[in-house]
Amino acid sequence: HNLNMEENNSCSLMSSNCRLKGGAPGFKVAILGAAGGIGQPLSMLMKINPLVSVLHLYDVVNTPGVTADISHMDTGAVVRGFLGQKQLEDALIGMDLVIIPAGVPRKPGMTRDDLFNINAGIVKTLCEAIAKSCPKAIVNLISNPVNSTVPIAAEVFKRAGTYDPSRLLGVTMLDVVRANTFVAEVLGLDPREVDVPVVGGHAGITILPLLSQVKPPSSFTPKEIEYLTDRIQNGGTEVVEAKAGAGSATLSMAYAAVKFADACLRALRGDAGIIECAYVDSKVTELPFFASKVRLGRSGVEEILPLGPLNDYEREGLEKAKKELAVSVEKGVSFARK
Ligand code: NAI
Repeated sequence: HNLNMEENNSCSLMSSNCRLKGGAPGFKVAILGAAGGIGQPLSMLMKINPLVSVLHLYDVVNTPGVTADISHMDTGAVVRGFLGQKQLEDALIGMDLVIIPAGVPRKPGMTRDDLFNINAGIVKTLCEAIAKSCPKAIVNLISNPVNSTVPIAAEVFKRAGTYDPSRLLGVTMLDVVRANTFVAEVLGLDPREVDVPVVGGHAGITILPLLSQVKPPSSFTPKEIEYLTDRIQNGGTEVVEAKAGAGSATLSMAYAAVKFADACLRALRGDAGIIECAYVDSKVTELPFFASKVRLGRSGVEEILPLGPLNDYEREGLEKAKKELAVSVEKGVSFARK
């Protein structure tokens, strides 16, 4: 089929593996909340991604403009815009990957949990449509509070009978990206050479960097550990305060979201050995959801890796993180069951 024909919908109705010009396999990706602070740069970066053949941009405002703008980029993906809830299910039909940055961001003084009342309802609505239109899609959930919105999404999918824990991933990649940057700064290395596992969740003390497992193997003074842990846990707040009311991280988040989505697409294509941190349905701890390293494959999460050896400082952090996480998970589950 000819991907240049905008009116030809046959591509988005096929289950998978649209071909890009030249015959390379491509995937169909939808972005929900595409006109927002994260959504716009994320849409732009996904339009550049060579693994994407079709890009659907959905929002409740401004998608015609964003779509017209991005569609002029001379890259392979065909872009289509969808505006308002009536077009939501059409936006989702046939998608391989759905990325969700819809919802309100923090202002100074707010915690991610303060966003719950608005974003919980948005995520519920979007996931109900995913269950109907593309129940087999991989979902990358960015909307905060991630610690609660992922449990909400799981409940919605369970109720619809479509829940596959391996296909629902809360995006914690920005915590890893920040950790790599800040640790590289302290070590005097190029951030591209540094790999810091960050486990737990995506809010304050639930963000647990495992500095004892940094690659390349490194040792830190107690002062450096305090500084790095605190800065990684509060990196989001650093941006919220600097933006002084104009929102939270959008550009670094779009970068992190694309890094994560690209890993998911390479795994879908069949690449081996793709390991990233994500907040998923997990048995790594006694909690039902937990962020840790996962191995991605053709069906999403194929293996959840163990936490590895923790030092005393990390074990103490883990206990604190688990207490807060348990409350956030329960809040999401009870909202969705109401
Ligand atoms: P924004 O306000 O700039 O954009 C949000 C977009 O969502 C807007 O275009 C809005 O129209 C749209 N939207 C609202 N209701 C919708 C609905 N029912 N369906 C579809 N779209 C809808 O916010 P920003 O800065 O892009 O942040 C988005 C979310 O991402 C926030 O919840 C924020 O807290 C979260 N976030 C998550 C991070 C993470 O690491 N997981 C990092 C940074 C932000």
